[in-house]
Amino acid sequence: MERAQQLKDLSSFMQDRGFVYGPSPEIYGGLAGFFDYGPLGKLLKNNVEAQIRKVFQKNGFFEVECPTVMPRIVWEASGHLGGFTDPLIKDAKGNSYRVDKLIEEHFLKNDLDFDSIKVDGATDEELLKIIADYKIKAPSGEDLIPEITKHNLMMKTTVGLDTESYNRPETATTTYLPFLRYMNFFRDKLPNGVFQIGKAYRNEISPRQYMLRMREFTQAEAQLMLFADQKNDFEKFEKVKDKKLPLWTAEMQEKGGSFINLEANFPGGVPLEKALEKKWLKNKAYAWTLALAYEVFIAMGIPQERIRLRQHNKDEMAFYADDAWDLEINLNTFGWTEVCGIHDRNDYDLSTHSKHSKKDLVAMKEDGTKEIPHILEIAFGTDRPTFALLDIFYDEKEKDEGKTKFDLPYRVAPIPLAVLPLTNKLHEQAYELYTQLQEDFICQYDKSGSVGKRYLRADSIGTPYCVTYDFDTLEDGCITLRDRDTGNQERVKITELKDRLKSLL
Ligand code: GLY
Repeated sequence: MERAQQLKDLSSFMQDRGFVYGPSPEIYGGLAGFFDYGPLGKLLKNNVEAQIRKVFQKNGFFEVECPTVMPRIVWEASGHLGGFTDPLIKDAKGNSYRVDKLIEEHFLKNDLDFDSIKVDGATDEELLKIIADYKIKAPSGEDLIPEITKHNLMMKTTVGLDTESYNRPETATTTYLPFLRYMNFFRDKLPNGVFQIGKAYRNEISPRQYMLRMREFTQAEAQLMLFADQKNDFEKFEKVKDKKLPLWTAEMQEKGGSFINLEANFPGGVPLEKALEKKWLKNKAYAWTLALAYEVFIAMGIPQERIRLRQHNKDEMAFYADDAWDLEINLNTFGWTEVCGIHDRNDYDLSTHSKHSKKDLVAMKEDGTKEIPHILEIAFGTDRPTFALLDIFYDEKEKDEGKTKFDLPYRVAPIPLAVLPLTNKLHEQAYELYTQLQEDFICQYDKSGSVGKRYLRADSIGTPYCVTYDFDTLEDGCITLRDRDTGNQERVKITELKDRLKSLL
């Protein structure tokens, strides 16, 4: 099926079932790039975030929370005020467009090979040349005026009467600022790590990619702080050195090797130790952060064959990065899509904030000397993975038979459990069981329609287990527990049900 149609079907499913609405506010016509999560969407997103917390905490990171608004000085220092821009072009009628996106859309629409041109990191002259060479016009058909301007992505606001401030465009910068406080908490030891899950804002000029480009979105960013010489003296690497990752290096991309060929040369991925040997990865700590990022996405339930790690070439890297890889997911609706950036930010951040704040953001080494630590960052959001789960697991092949299947991994299913009385005569007893289960599980009570119909309804929102209360339950104290994927049904004693469900879920 065509991707546009697939996206249309998926978004109407998401709307109908209460996953995502928008653009919001819908009753006032909507503002592009803003969305509401409905009841099921919010539960799914919470589950995604719970998996992220679990993996980071298990790997020694502590969660922090910093303000979303910061004064101008912070963004001057971080470089976002000067450097966090998109290239814009106008058409003859004065409408503005993002040049890189316009080119990408033109290539996609006309089935041209987007990999044959350089857009990320291209100079203004190079972008204008592509526009001219391929005779690209505005989506309205208007000619484009060959002049590129820069649009800063930050949303400006005023705090109090006159303090110029900005909504943060990333959580990362705000995470770095209490660095000296963290050092106190970690008793001056490095390496250590913190992470933040919270809102960030980007004033995209014309976001057209549904939930993939939101102007207000939730980021989840982990920061590993360490001394430069600890990058290759990194104990935790030993545990992951044999781990195979789908690494698609800049060198492989330049040589024109496709990602598919990687599998032929390195079945199951490249072992991290090999990647270091080949100098595809610069150091052990960075290799470990790549493995950690991969682990997060696997924990969320993204199938491993849908994931690849793609190295940026030099021109593509963000202004603060010394090395950068993207974790990409192969979506049904948008193809390979960046969902996470793993950046070696070097000492960029702590140096620049030392300079601007005039505070020494340094840590003491064992030999008594002081040094500005480096930062390795895993930067992603929680909206794209939430969308990815919907995109990958929503399967409307059987829609015509009224059987939408939504086989989300059980651990992230928004409603893990449905309680169904066999007939309305058993409502009172079944409802009592439902209220008991609610103490431990998010569950839904459904008494309308045949049991078969109710199973289908539960399947269509991805509910892994249904508990059916029938007439035998009155006699033997057992319910029927039905498993979504296998369809298996087993009798389980009510007194053992909670424990059984906890072990299953
Ligand atoms: N902190 C990196 C990013 O927002 O992409």
